[in-house]
Amino acid sequence: MDNIELTDLFENNRAWAAQQTELDARFFTALAQQQRPKYLWIGCADSRVPANEIVGLPPGQVFVHRNIANVVVHSDLNCLSVIQYAVDVLCIEHIIVTGHYGCGGVAASIDGERHGLIDNWLRHIQDVAHQHPAELAAIQDPTARSNRLCELNVEAQVRNVARTTIVQDAWARGQDVALHGWVYDLNDGLLRDLNVTTTEV
Ligand code: CO
Repeated sequence: MDNIELTDLFENNRAWAAQQTELDARFFTALAQQQRPKYLWIGCADSRVPANEIVGLPPGQVFVHRNIANVVVHSDLNCLSVIQYAVDVLCIEHIIVTGHYGCGGVAASIDGERHGLIDNWLRHIQDVAHQHPAELAAIQDPTARSNRLCELNVEAQVRNVARTTIVQDAWARGQDVALHGWVYDLNDGLLRDLNVTTTEV
């Protein structure tokens, strides 16, 4: 798979489109009319954590926002716009923040090194780490410490989603939107529920 060339992508695409049409002749025409996803996935940009594939959902069923280390920042108009469209227009029922063990962004946030501009983004994860100094310091193994921070980061970002005006307003008007925090393990391909599901605050 490592030697796939750019031109192969078009060939892959034509084969994929033909296969979808073979399975369901109306697949693309129906999807072109509208999208009705029930799920908003907020995940890491890491190429090994593709939203649709992991949960086995075809095009049209999951609205996706991804950035480095699945961070939800109160002033990030990009992420907020995705959440607003998902909640107000698409009326999605579940917002799932999904982190992953072995997240390079999370590890970089606490490795004490300089990485360039991205450090300003990773600062948000440092802030999460600073909320749990004793717990993280007690974990000797750097990988285990970083993976625990991956979990704490997901929990913090779920709280950030809950505090957006978009979700607060949706709950105030009685709209059902549930927030979830999951973590994906690159080593076994499995999702774990962190059991921080929130349905109103
Ligand atoms: Co990552």
